[in-house]
Amino acid sequence: TFVVTENCIKCKYTDCVEVCPVDCFYEGPNFLVIHPDECIDCGLCEPECPADAILQDDDLSDEQQVYVELNADLAEIWPNISLKKAAPDDADDWNGKPDKLKLLER
Ligand code: SF4
Ligand code: F3S
Repeated sequence: TFVVTENCIKCKYTDCVEVCPVDCFYEGPNFLVIHPDECIDCGLCEPECPADAILQDDDLSDEQQVYVELNADLAEIWPNISLKKAAPDDADDWNGKPDKLKLLER
């Protein structure tokens, strides 16, 4: 399955949701997640993310493993998103910034 990782936090460009054929993205205040049971592993979203935040689970680093559970858990409680919306005004400033996990809003 594919997983949204740290660099989406506070970037949330939402280009990913437009290409997903099964609409399996879910939206929180400043992060998106993929529902692991709904993702069909098509891979279309991965190259669309300007923040390179989407990875196949097999490609996650040890540090990124925490996002497997975060995607699964938050996809159960956040609302679905299937239409692209404007990114935060300061999204580009946050792209690539380290240590964003502590900034994740629920
Ligand atoms: Fe959707 Fe395909 Fe990305 Fe899975 S890999 S989230 S099905 S676009
Ligand atoms: Fe996040 Fe990238 Fe989608 S920043 S909202 S995973 S396009």
